[in-house]
Amino acid sequence: MTSNDKKIKIGLLGVGTVGTGVVKVLTNHPVLEIKKIGARDLNKKRDAVIKKELLTSDLKSIINDPEIEVIVEMLGGLNPSRELVIEAIKNKKHIVTANKDLIATHGAELFDLARENNVQIQFEASVCGGIPIINTLKQTLNANRFSKIMGILNGTTNYILSEMLNRGISYEQCLKEAQDKGYAEPDPTNDISGKDSAYKLSILASIAFGERIKINDVYNEGIEKITPNDIAISEDLGYRIKLVGIAKKEEDKIDIRVHPAFIKKTSTLASVFGANNGVLIEGNLIGELTLIGAGAGEFPTASSVAGDLNMLVAHITSAKGPNPQFVCKHTHYAKIKPISETTNSYFVRLRTDDKAGVVGQVGTIFGKHEVSINTLTQRGSNPDSSASITILTHLVKEEKLQAAIKEIEKSNIVKQVENVIRVFE
Ligand SMILES: NC(=O)c1ccc[n+]([C@@H]2O[C@H](COP(=O)([O-])OP(=O)(O)OC[C@H]3O[C@@H](n4cnc5c(N)ncnc54)[C@H](OP(=O)(O)O)[C@@H]3O)[C@@H](O)[C@H]2O)c1
Repeated sequence: MTSNDKKIKIGLLGVGTVGTGVVKVLTNHPVLEIKKIGARDLNKKRDAVIKKELLTSDLKSIINDPEIEVIVEMLGGLNPSRELVIEAIKNKKHIVTANKDLIATHGAELFDLARENNVQIQFEASVCGGIPIINTLKQTLNANRFSKIMGILNGTTNYILSEMLNRGISYEQCLKEAQDKGYAEPDPTNDISGKDSAYKLSILASIAFGERIKINDVYNEGIEKITPNDIAISEDLGYRIKLVGIAKKEEDKIDIRVHPAFIKKTSTLASVFGANNGVLIEGNLIGELTLIGAGAGEFPTASSVAGDLNMLVAHITSAKGPNPQFVCKHTHYAKIKPISETTNSYFVRLRTDDKAGVVGQVGTIFGKHEVSINTLTQRGSNPDSSASITILTHLVKEEKLQAAIKEIEKSNIVKQVENVIRVFE
């Protein structure tokens, strides 16, 4: 166990996209110190934040280092990840992993072993990168009985379907473009076939329903056969085609599958576009809840890995006092920006006499206070022979807008300033 005055040492296995993000996020961490970083090619050009002296291609030297308390596995795939994680657990090290293949395929074996060795495995980054879905299910929503998990769990296929919709182009053309831009792997089979989504869905369903799921029992069908014509027809009918993973609890069985599906255009998941992911959870207490965000990428994924690490810090240090995650650590008050200093666009509605020259006078006052008008509409006479003027401004500091409104109110140009509403662009 680490003493309070010593940092908790961690070892990283892998320093590619995710690992590099994790190193950046942990720079100057108050409690965690990266002791070793494992990679395959020591001569590879890497981000300057990766200290050369920490790099080693001898991954076993990391998992066997007695000073290292936590192993962060970011290698990907099953080999050598499985073997290394098993050995690390036997060495009583906690594990943080971003590896969905490993958890979906060997989770049962690893979690049993972790329990026997009294260590934890955290895996928030393994499903939907930056979306905090695992710990939301395991902790925040743990009072619920879940009935459904439904999600768009793969960014590559969602990007392809979104581009097919927006540009009316074929699946083949979209895939090629996605590969050229680096959005899709050179070998995209797992993404396209729905296998990657099946890995993630099986992890989520097994947490939500409290039962182990064998990955090969999860039906998966890919997007290869979807044509621009299918997409056009679905839109005409009020639907959108998405690659959907769905898991439902039905009496003693779980209905779990991944396949393309029409979903209502008005549904929240239909608005998940591009490389984003979205997960809808249905629980008896919460009702429906949808989380949408970046399903991959250096920093979103590093956010989940670092969150898991901070949780482990809390666990490791809690033996010495209250869990630091549950203790209020703030002692100072934040400085709050006054509303007068904020910048917004504004909708302004004025009631005026229906006579010539009013619009010009209003415009002059706005101009004097540097409030630039985006649109101005004068609407016909009201029953009392007054007129309505509605104005949308460009972005302006609140104090300038309020000064203009005050001057308009004081003048006899308008009968009344009926409303001023801030507009978010
Ligand atoms: N990329 C994302 O946005 C994302 C999102 C969520 C989850 N994940 C998961 O995070 C994990 C890592 O993904 P990534 O995108 O960071 O992968 P990556 O860029 O390919 O990096 C993999 C790293 O592991 C090292 N490595 C792989 N096999 C090795 C071996 N046999 N011996 C030594 N080192 C080895 C590589 O070494 P070299 O640098 O020397 O090649 C590299 O540093 C995967 O499980 C992935 O599914 C990724």
